[in-house]
Amino acid sequence: MKRRVAILISGRGSNMVALIEAARPADFPAEIVLVISNRADAPGLEKAKASGIPTVVIESSSFGKDRAGFEAVLQSTLEQHGIELICLGGFMRLFTAEFAKRWYGRMLNIHPSLLPSFPGLDPHGQALRAGVKISGATVHFVIPETDAGPVVMQGAVPVSDHDTVETLSERILEVEHRIYPDALRLLASGKIRLEGEICKIEETAGSGNFLISPAAT
Ligand code: GAR
Repeated sequence: MKRRVAILISGRGSNMVALIEAARPADFPAEIVLVISNRADAPGLEKAKASGIPTVVIESSSFGKDRAGFEAVLQSTLEQHGIELICLGGFMRLFTAEFAKRWYGRMLNIHPSLLPSFPGLDPHGQALRAGVKISGATVHFVIPETDAGPVVMQGAVPVSDHDTVETLSERILEVEHRIYPDALRLLASGKIRLEGEICKIEETAGSGNFLISPAAT
């Protein structure tokens, strides 16, 4: 039985599209059954519709600071659709600790840095200002703290002296689209177990190489 997944978005939804595409094959262990946006103007909504995935808008702005009120509607929507797993894809709304705890181990997020480095806003700018030579993306379980929680998968990219926020985010986005479907596959097929705050994964092959940046000539 495929696990029933909802993707939560606020914007363009490119990770959402990557997950929808990856989940199409019959042997993928999860099915994207619903896309929820907290903004009616999220461009990702049209992309979800074009892919034939039902969408729901729950405008968070109308709840103001009432996070619990927003989450009550969200929770009942998730229940109505029998959702078992949540993937956040650029969902720019903080959860209450209660909601994060309720979905602990069943809710993934992706962030464009190698966490725990550069959480929060402008991670690409943070990486450039820190002068790191390698950055990347992280899929992690959601906990009450923002952009933190057990790391499921990471992908690294080189950072060059010529990079701008735009070029770096483009490179990282490519690795995001690769690791998010892989992480969901592992979670949905029961290959992930949490040992305290550490995520352990069964049956993974080592990637078998290094990423060294810059390459010495
Ligand atoms: C992605 O780069 C994602 O990693 C980031 O928002 C972007 C959403 O793009 N998420 C965060 O920064 C979470 N703190 P998308 O809507 O095209 O998937």
